[in-house]
Amino acid sequence: MTSGRLRKVVFPVAGLGTRFLPATKVVAKEMLPVLDRPLIQYAVDEAVDAGADTLIFVTNRYKHAIADYFDKAYELESKLAKSGKNDLLALVQGTLPKHVRCVFVTQPEALGLGHAVLCAKPVVGDEPFGVILADDLIWNGNPGSGRPGALRQMSEVAARESAGVLAVEEVPREDTRKYGIVDSEAISERVARIRKMVEKPEPDVAPSNLAIVGRYVLPSDIFSLLEQTSPGAGGEIQLTDAIEALLQKQSVLAYRVEGTRFDCGNKLGLVKATLHMALQDPQIGQETLKLLRSLEQ
Ligand code: G1P
Repeated sequence: MTSGRLRKVVFPVAGLGTRFLPATKVVAKEMLPVLDRPLIQYAVDEAVDAGADTLIFVTNRYKHAIADYFDKAYELESKLAKSGKNDLLALVQGTLPKHVRCVFVTQPEALGLGHAVLCAKPVVGDEPFGVILADDLIWNGNPGSGRPGALRQMSEVAARESAGVLAVEEVPREDTRKYGIVDSEAISERVARIRKMVEKPEPDVAPSNLAIVGRYVLPSDIFSLLEQTSPGAGGEIQLTDAIEALLQKQSVLAYRVEGTRFDCGNKLGLVKATLHMALQDPQIGQETLKLLRSLEQ
């Protein structure tokens, strides 16, 4: 894989978000807020931190909110400017840096994560790219805090080792059926070479409890492999299966990300992430702590 920063990042956002019904009847799962920012904002900030200037959203025909969110809000902005509410104006204008552009690609049918990523092929072209699953929020402090976000850490490993890189984390054995699971051999404290991977294995046949957690740095070779990938687990075209095929051609590394991961694809994970951010918030942190302590009694 070539060196340098990761210019393009794909966000598969076509899912139905059934775990959050009825809210997700009208609110896209990725627009659910963690404190005051939607999940997709955390993901986009992480991509920009990794150097991305082209964000590719793979969406479905019902999801317009994400495009609206990153678009200019003329009326709101002019109202805030006129009334001198410059702090709020900065927040509204700050969803996307000026040098970054968004591209929206439709996934015509819900055929799986692998298929969603394949839909981005014409925009990605022939260069390494990142994939972020926004419902896995990985927090390593605010971008700008000096600590690199998950995707930046991974792109540095990918450039250094000329390899694909997947973020991994140990999960309880009984949860292997929820994840892509890797069999790997350690190279260093955080990096391991992947030997094999399986999508959503039952705990008794899973090769380990090391799970892929929603971040990928991949070479463009993955697209031709995705085109040849047949439906796998759940009858869907799985990204994990295409990466397993990629292992025959080039090395793919598992990387234990520095940061805290919140699985915001389920209710408890979203609550945990919200509490974490609330506790760190300069305005409501102390009150949140008091509230939690009072609940303990
Ligand atoms: C997807 C991937 C899986 C990965 C998981 C991480 O599954 O297919 O390999 O471990 O994301 O969140 P999903 O959660 O979309 O079922």
